[in-house]
Amino acid sequence: MFRLAHVTDLHVRNFAGARLRDFFGKRAIGALNLALIRRRKHRPELLEALGDDLRARAHDHLVVSGDLGNVSLSSEWRAARSWIERIGASTENTTVIPGNHDAYVQEVVVSGAFEQLFAAFQSADLRLEPDTYPFARLRGEIALVCANSCVPTGDLGAWGRLGEAQLRRVEALLAAPEVRARFRVLVIHHPPVMHRPPENRNLRDRAQLAEVLARVGAELVVHGHDHRDEFAELAGPEGRRIPVVGAGSASYAGTTDRCSRYNIYEIDGARVDVVTYAHDSASGGFREFRRRTIAPIVS
Ligand SMILES: [Fe+2]
Ligand SMILES: [Fe+2]
Repeated sequence: MFRLAHVTDLHVRNFAGARLRDFFGKRAIGALNLALIRRRKHRPELLEALGDDLRARAHDHLVVSGDLGNVSLSSEWRAARSWIERIGASTENTTVIPGNHDAYVQEVVVSGAFEQLFAAFQSADLRLEPDTYPFARLRGEIALVCANSCVPTGDLGAWGRLGEAQLRRVEALLAAPEVRARFRVLVIHHPPVMHRPPENRNLRDRAQLAEVLARVGAELVVHGHDHRDEFAELAGPEGRRIPVVGAGSASYAGTTDRCSRYNIYEIDGARVDVVTYAHDSASGGFREFRRRTIAPIVS
């Protein structure tokens, strides 16, 4: 059995070293939002407690599916990377992709600052050079195909887009023989189906991604972004169906069904169980919140 841990939407706050000019435009609004709302919603002590729990929980690989920071500051990403290192996870066994909060401003995205900081967590066994995304990492019987749905929106929206070129590369990687021979997990920040309107917080080309998956298939899709546990299905080739799972935020201070949590996918041949571990305010620790078999899908 392969145990794949999935942590997402850390939303780490850290302004160390930020300059005043870093806070113009969208960042200024993001920082204000952060100060007023997210400060209460996302709690660093919950993220630390989650790290303690995950460190002690057996898993073979960890994927972090974006929104490590809030306003795309290097200080936020360095703090998030320290958190990953504190878990004791190696770069070989941890994979990181960005979320829309890690692609807040055009100049930062163009600079590739996120990719530089997390380069060792994105080292690829398969990549269609010279593009960073998507990339594939092969681990035993598992192939992770990691896409980047995050673009600087410039309009305060939280929408995402893969774009035609990346969609073509996602299809090519999923079809590559060494990937196809394994249990393929597509990792993406935005949900590939709309769970929560409005449109301006969703993946714009999700219909095109669904077409790619219908042609080439995948065994599992995992995502973040919605800050809640989500389950869906997409059509694969030859009548097969692909389970789609969203994990809740790792730092969210909300009610039991949404508070700080992470998933472990127990992959055993064609069978997949999702186990969600959530913060328990009574004990201060984490407990198994839900166990659900998502594959094989039986109707
Ligand atoms: Fe988020
Ligand atoms: Fe997000």
